[in-house]
Amino acid sequence: MPTQTQVEIKANGNPFGSHRVLEPKGVLPQPAQRVDNNMDYIYDNELLLEVETLNIDSASFTQIKKECNNDEEKIKAMITKIVGERGKMQNPVTGSGGMFRGKVLKIGPKLAGKIDLKEGDKIASLVSLSLTPLKIEKIIGIKPGTEQVNVVAKAIIFESGIYAKLPKDMPETLALAVLDVAGAPAQTAKLVRPGNTVVIIGAAGKSGVLCAYEARKRAGIMGKIIGITSSDSGLAKMKEQGFCHESFKLSATDALACYETIHKVTGGKMADVIINCVNIPNTEMASILMCRDGGIVYFFTMATSFTKAALGAEGVGKDVDMIIGNGYCKDHAEITLNLLRESKQLRDIYEKLYA
Ligand SMILES: NC(=O)c1ccc[n+]([C@@H]2O[C@H](COP(=O)([O-])OP(=O)(O)OC[C@H]3O[C@@H](n4cnc5c(N)ncnc54)[C@H](OP(=O)(O)O)[C@@H]3O)[C@@H](O)[C@H]2O)c1
Repeated sequence: MPTQTQVEIKANGNPFGSHRVLEPKGVLPQPAQRVDNNMDYIYDNELLLEVETLNIDSASFTQIKKECNNDEEKIKAMITKIVGERGKMQNPVTGSGGMFRGKVLKIGPKLAGKIDLKEGDKIASLVSLSLTPLKIEKIIGIKPGTEQVNVVAKAIIFESGIYAKLPKDMPETLALAVLDVAGAPAQTAKLVRPGNTVVIIGAAGKSGVLCAYEARKRAGIMGKIIGITSSDSGLAKMKEQGFCHESFKLSATDALACYETIHKVTGGKMADVIINCVNIPNTEMASILMCRDGGIVYFFTMATSFTKAALGAEGVGKDVDMIIGNGYCKDHAEITLNLLRESKQLRDIYEKLYA
């Protein structure tokens, strides 16, 4: 029998979590500078979780690794410092967070009976760490080659927060990795039409490979999927995976080279849909220039600048629809977990790194 977690219960929690905002007052937890991460009490509409693994957002983790010269101890110290100062794992440079995997310790009395969870259930949070109150007791280590950080920690999910119960048919760390980027393939399914030419930037990455697979399915036999990546290893991976009809080694920070390449392969028509899955800044212009007039640019990357995208498109006279990669899309968790059930190849790719 699991032992009951004893915590004080406070009344009148706000559904969006504004009651935990310390600074500045009156804003919601995501834009807040600092949130209350005291885990000795919960509000009546909160979930208290024991956190086992943090999955740091790739744009954030890439920035932290660079600043810490890839030194694991320095990375751990930086994560501890950020969470100590902000009460949440929100990278001050990228503004982004990530998500976590953990176990339900306590369900606020106002939620009891209204949600499909019981204490002891294992879940992945589907709201960003950039708004999630988090208290880290200890960082155990970082899973090599991933953004997964094993910790002893506690977190709060607010009443409006979303989560997914971890499936029984795959390892938890694997499900966590897939659920982190669940919005991307689910949106791809909605955006890509039969016959479309689709460019996926970062197509060998975690979200990119899922998008490439889904785009190929949706574009059908008349469609064309083009993958872009900046490293030799990425290019080799993309070719081996085989989801893209054409694969190019190009940097998405080099807008003109990207434009010229896509101009050539499409005979000047350019692409109908661009899906940007990179983890670095300054890729807005390549995305815009590779798209045809009237096409769609989907910015899944957290390193996107609204100003650069909006003013950049205007500056080159491009009439394109630009979509901000909302991490949430209806049924995204189930849609994306099903991709791994449907394709053994995708599952093998993920298992190699995360299982
Ligand atoms: N919207 C949301 O809710 C949400 C949720 C989760 C993640 N994200 C964001 O989505 C993005 C991708 O996440 P992920 O987990 O898929 O990242 P990932 O696995 O690290 O993949 C990033 C990819 O970008 C490629 N890349 C890096 N620099 C490039 C360049 N200059 N030109 C072309 N390609 C380049 C990398 O390949 P090479 O090294 O070969 O270039 C890599 O394959 C990140 O920005 C992340 O923060 C958004």
